[in-house]
Amino acid sequence: MTKVGLFDSGVGGLTVLKELIAAMPHKSYVYFADTARYPYGGKSQETIIRYSLENSNFLLEQGVELIAIACHTATSLALHELQKNLNIPILGVIEPAVEKMVATTKNKHLGVLGTRATIASGMYQRKLLEKLPDATITACACPLFVPIIEEQITSPEIIKLVVKETLAPFKGKSIDTLLLGCTHYPLLQKEIQEEMGPHVTLVNPAKTFAEMLQKHNLAKSSTPELSFFVSDDPERFRAIGESFLGISMPHVKKV
Ligand code: DGL
Repeated sequence: MTKVGLFDSGVGGLTVLKELIAAMPHKSYVYFADTARYPYGGKSQETIIRYSLENSNFLLEQGVELIAIACHTATSLALHELQKNLNIPILGVIEPAVEKMVATTKNKHLGVLGTRATIASGMYQRKLLEKLPDATITACACPLFVPIIEEQITSPEIIKLVVKETLAPFKGKSIDTLLLGCTHYPLLQKEIQEEMGPHVTLVNPAKTFAEMLQKHNLAKSSTPELSFFVSDDPERFRAIGESFLGISMPHVKKV
């Protein structure tokens, strides 16, 4: 196997791609950002399944031999449908996230941050309780975090206020482990950590996801390549992507 496909609604999945490149630099990656139809977080399951199938079929046309769904929303609502309909391995970000949460918590008071669709699906809550039946889980949707990243809001006052308001339900609950259950949230990690305090461990599952993929023994590419596709606004994607990945992304193609 040589080419790995990833998709997300926007730039957030680059937090996953970054870890995959760090863990497996000798692979080729095709990244598709569905920027024309972002955000996914407020959409219905039926719509998220349709978008995810279309995204995956596009990646298949690019010759990928495995798909890593970087998006938590798409994993929560469409993973099973994709696995049912496609003939290549499809891996989602939930399994590694749950594994990391379970390995991290000491007091079993867990917090989950995600988009509205992810939290409403109850997928994380169910999977965590399967592994830790006596855990106490507080799950909360954060609809304002994704626009802060995608719209490149940089005002520290605005970010601090949104983070404080959003995280209020987690206060006073003795939470020791908090999941960044959306690919965009690691980009607000510093602010979230400051608000929650040093005793709370934030879990970004991207690294564990990369370790899970390593187990698939993908063949090395003789000439590793990175390809980026978007459904709208390649320039904006490139600007955010280059500053985050720290590499130049000259060919972002709109499809
Ligand atoms: N980045 C996606 C996730 O991991 C969703 C963001 C959105 O489009 O709402 O859930």
